[in-house]
Amino acid sequence: MASTTILILAAGEGTRMRSALPKVLHKVGGRTLIGHVVEAAKASGAKALDVVIGPERDDVAAEIRHRAAGAGIHVQRERLGTAHAVLCAKRTLGQGNDLIVAFGDTPLVRAETFSMLADSLKDAAVAVLGFRPTNPHGYGRLIEENGNLVAIREEKDTSDAEKKITLCNAGIMAFAGKYALTLIEAIGNDNAKREYYLTDAVALARARNLNVTVREAPEEEVMGINDRAQLAEAEAELQRRMRKAALEAGVTLVAPETVFFSADTKLGKDVTIEPNVVFGPGVLVKDGATIKAFSHLEGAEVGEGASVGPFARLRPGTKLGAKTKIGNFVEVKAATFAEGAKANHLSYIGDASVGAKANIGAGTITCNFDGFDKSKTEIGEGAFIGSNSALVAPVKIGAGAYVGSGSVITDDVPADALALGRGKQAVKEGWAASERKRRGKAAK
Ligand code: UD1
Ligand code: MG
Repeated sequence: MASTTILILAAGEGTRMRSALPKVLHKVGGRTLIGHVVEAAKASGAKALDVVIGPERDDVAAEIRHRAAGAGIHVQRERLGTAHAVLCAKRTLGQGNDLIVAFGDTPLVRAETFSMLADSLKDAAVAVLGFRPTNPHGYGRLIEENGNLVAIREEKDTSDAEKKITLCNAGIMAFAGKYALTLIEAIGNDNAKREYYLTDAVALARARNLNVTVREAPEEEVMGINDRAQLAEAEAELQRRMRKAALEAGVTLVAPETVFFSADTKLGKDVTIEPNVVFGPGVLVKDGATIKAFSHLEGAEVGEGASVGPFARLRPGTKLGAKTKIGNFVEVKAATFAEGAKANHLSYIGDASVGAKANIGAGTITCNFDGFDKSKTEIGEGAFIGSNSALVAPVKIGAGAYVGSGSVITDDVPADALALGRGKQAVKEGWAASERKRRGKAAK
């Protein structure tokens, strides 16, 4: 791939999504469709990456730059077909690299498939990725003579006999650098849709006696997204792929079909994930940790041997050290827990640091927001926070200190001290008995 440019076409309108958002910014596995293709292109080791986008699509351009700062971005002002779109990146094509054209709405394509197509250019001027869809309707058909590909015919231009062909164009094509520009520039628009079809490069290459070759990919990998139903199918396929990869990498999934990953979820060895767990983007779970049922994690790191859930919510900026415990109905945001620290029940810990082996009692809340600003709570090593305490940030609880249950803590607590911030208990001996007597009856 050292001399290959991958060019991704993403200037289409995506009308069938019925969405205010451009099609390629819809997501599967928590990552945009175009983001998946860009990541696969990067992983293939291609020399250069270029993308063709529609006019006034700053949002799409930003997503591409975010994932591949060095990518070339080209604008197709009029949507005149896939060959026309490729020529919008002419300044890149002029450099003579081998060229792979991919589509921005084909998110499940793998890096290996790009490399395979690039390799197939060793003895061909053009390589086409084919597949055999369950329903070929709408796809370009691969027309073969004596086992050789001679043309690709778009659905609208096919004869009844050609419609029966099951081998279809996946949309990914490769061109040897020497021929790419001359072939694509020769393409006309003499067809039913009056579009410049990239697929016509095949017949043009044959007419010039150049070799054309076909490689095949499974349907799941090259399925294109045109509407929300296909978006959901792609999500399901991606989830299957990620569950299988997790199992193979030494992760226990008790009920794999109920666990939802993001494309960037990273899991260590001997991690156990119980049923109904959802991973948003940016999660790392280290070796031996357990994520119990019904937990939701996003932008979080879970340390070795830690235990999270059931019913826990880890939000962005959470960093849990080794052997920490986050129990049921605990929400953590932008907070670090050092080794062995615990919050076992019903708490909100946000914008905080929790020292090693500190114990946070049930119902503890870090009051991190005063309606204007967010402030930090620092809890020292080995501190003990009694149940139902409110820690009003900014506030520091020293190492080894105790906070009595039900306290509202507004001032810093020194190390090893006991802080009580609650009404003093009053006891009136015999009050209940005398009250019953006074009213002459037992309480109801
Ligand atoms: C295309 C192929 C067809 C193949 C199918 C696979 C052509 C002519 N046809 O058909 O053989 O079976 O994909 O899914 O290539 N685009 C632009 N600018 C344009 C037109 C398209 O950027 O002017 C982009 C779209 O954003 C999309 C891709 O090119 O990412 C494909 O366009 P689309 O209109 O979806 O082509 P299909 O009719 O699906
Ligand atoms: Mg399409």
